[in-house]
Amino acid sequence: MGRLGIETRSSLSMHLSEYGPLPATPRRHGSEPGSLVDEVETAGLRGRGGGWFPTSRKLRAVVESSAGRGRLNRSRHPVVIANGMEGEPASSKDAGLLASSAHLVFDGISAAAATVGATNAFLAIHRDSPVIPTLLKALDERHAARLDPLAIHLVTPPARYVASEESALSHWVGEGVATPVYPDRPFQKGAAGRPTLVQNVETLAHLGLIARHGGAWFAELGAPSAPGSTLVTVGGAVRDAGVVEVPTGTPVRQILELCGGATEPVRGYLTGGYGGGWVAADGFDTTAWDPESMRTAGAVIGASVLWLIGESTCPIDEMARVAAWMAGESAGQCGPCVYGLPSLSDDVHQLATRHADAADMARLERRLSLVSNRGGCKHPDGTARFVSTGLAAFADEVALHLDRRCSVTARGQGPAAMPVPPARLALVDVSGRDFE
Ligand SMILES: Cc1cc2nc3c(=O)[nH]c(=O)nc-3n(C[C@H](O)[C@H](O)[C@H](O)COP(=O)(O)O)c2cc1C
Ligand code: SF4
Repeated sequence: MGRLGIETRSSLSMHLSEYGPLPATPRRHGSEPGSLVDEVETAGLRGRGGGWFPTSRKLRAVVESSAGRGRLNRSRHPVVIANGMEGEPASSKDAGLLASSAHLVFDGISAAAATVGATNAFLAIHRDSPVIPTLLKALDERHAARLDPLAIHLVTPPARYVASEESALSHWVGEGVATPVYPDRPFQKGAAGRPTLVQNVETLAHLGLIARHGGAWFAELGAPSAPGSTLVTVGGAVRDAGVVEVPTGTPVRQILELCGGATEPVRGYLTGGYGGGWVAADGFDTTAWDPESMRTAGAVIGASVLWLIGESTCPIDEMARVAAWMAGESAGQCGPCVYGLPSLSDDVHQLATRHADAADMARLERRLSLVSNRGGCKHPDGTARFVSTGLAAFADEVALHLDRRCSVTARGQGPAAMPVPPARLALVDVSGRDFE
């Protein structure tokens, strides 16, 4: 069994017999976080929500921001938000984790809240998620057993891609509006103006284990630059698509073996999710699954998605469908999203339908360079990377399309189409929250 227990669905009693009780977490004292932060630093835990940012630095930043406000400032109390939204359509690791090991995630929320001295804690999950009943039941069990020193509330923002970006989540929890906010970051000014710790649910589950076994135990496994285990969602042209837990640093080939191998010759992989990047198949299966090795290989570990495009699928068609969806998911408040992404999407559509020429491609390249680093959040950057890495990884197919041909259409399109959700509801739903 892996560390995170994704193979079984655990009630509270099963959870306690498997992991034992969560030891009392040392609480924050004044301007010092609880000592769990030192264990997290020793562990080298990095966030599993996409950015792989060191968790100990975030914990300290929230405490520093809160301590800097002085005792009489009512808005100094930190807030913890567990990000279980899983906005990446190709990812299912967080839903799998919450369905099987909700109590480990709640343990992590409790431990993080004590460490930063939070007075409010939330788990955010999108409102259509089938996991909600499981989470409500788990919260009831914990309430009856008086496990958590502070109440943990479930919040259900709309299932929009950018609603799960950390400032959008904080905005939702504070004001009931799920749009990203900038330039302040949540650790400075998040939900209701409070210093806010937003962590992915998998990160928090690892925190629940570090609180029990310590940082040195955690770091025994995995790549030294990003230790521990990690969940990976494997999909596309693979025999047993699903979620696996592996030590970081596991070669891609071994991850694929755990999933029964590819169902057909692979031409490329999408790594990290729709905000990640494409790589050509050549030699990629020896790459280690950790942030640095992936970067060196020109890939992105991101939300830990590994999606295989087999030879029976046209990658340009897939890119066009996903790019159109990504363009429709912006919060509509910054230039690169409002003007840039629809144009990018149109260009890729033109290429996919074999109506593009060299001048169109030159315009597309110019547009790609214009949208990056200019939005209030990283949504335009992720979309631009999705398109630019795809054009590079599938350069042969691009050339064929410019020549009005496609290597797949003649043989008939294969089954491994990437998931593209339907257009979704509005981001705004002002409901307000009470803050203690
Ligand atoms: C457009 C966009 C969507 C995101 N969606 C998610 C998501 O669904 N789940 C998640 O954990 N992080 C998501 N993130 C990353 C969060 O902003 C944030 O970095 C993360 O929740 C922090 O947790 P971690 O440090 O534990 O990784 C998204 C970021 C962007 C720019
Ligand atoms: S870059 Fe796009 S998604 Fe991000 S805040 Fe601006 S409009 Fe919203």
